[in-house]
Amino acid sequence: KEIFVLNGPNLNRLGTREPEIYGSTTLADIESMCMTKASELGATLTFRQSNHEGNLVDWIQEAADKQAGLVINPAAYTHTSVALQDAIKAGGVPTIEVHLSNIHARESFRHKSYVSPVALGVICGLGARGYLLALDALVSHLEQKHD
Ligand code: DQA
Repeated sequence: KEIFVLNGPNLNRLGTREPEIYGSTTLADIESMCMTKASELGATLTFRQSNHEGNLVDWIQEAADKQAGLVINPAAYTHTSVALQDAIKAGGVPTIEVHLSNIHARESFRHKSYVSPVALGVICGLGARGYLLALDALVSHLEQKHD
């Protein structure tokens, strides 16, 4: 099984960015946790981050072409991006949306997600552990091939 883990804007700053909200775990820490988890699950993992919406769209299309599953933390683009929703929907990419923080307990502009309507599921508020839970769920989804 092939899985892409994609991260949106400002997540390259994890560790020092608002640690009271996002914790002290860095994106490199999350990447290595995900790599370990993926190898336990027998999955091949591609882990990327970009501050640019178009890069994320390109990578979702790449995931679609490779028939890979997707774990995505779209960060601020969650709340704005029709383009990400379209790319996931058009590519038919099995997707789990992850947020470190509980977006529903924060400002109201974070309550809406353009990605959630096209996601298999959404995990938020569980910190870096959410990525690992998403990998577990996505690999079993891909193995079972259910809807
Ligand atoms: C986030 C939540 C978003 O609202 C925010 O813009 C982020 C990170 C999270 O992981 O909690 O950049 O996606």
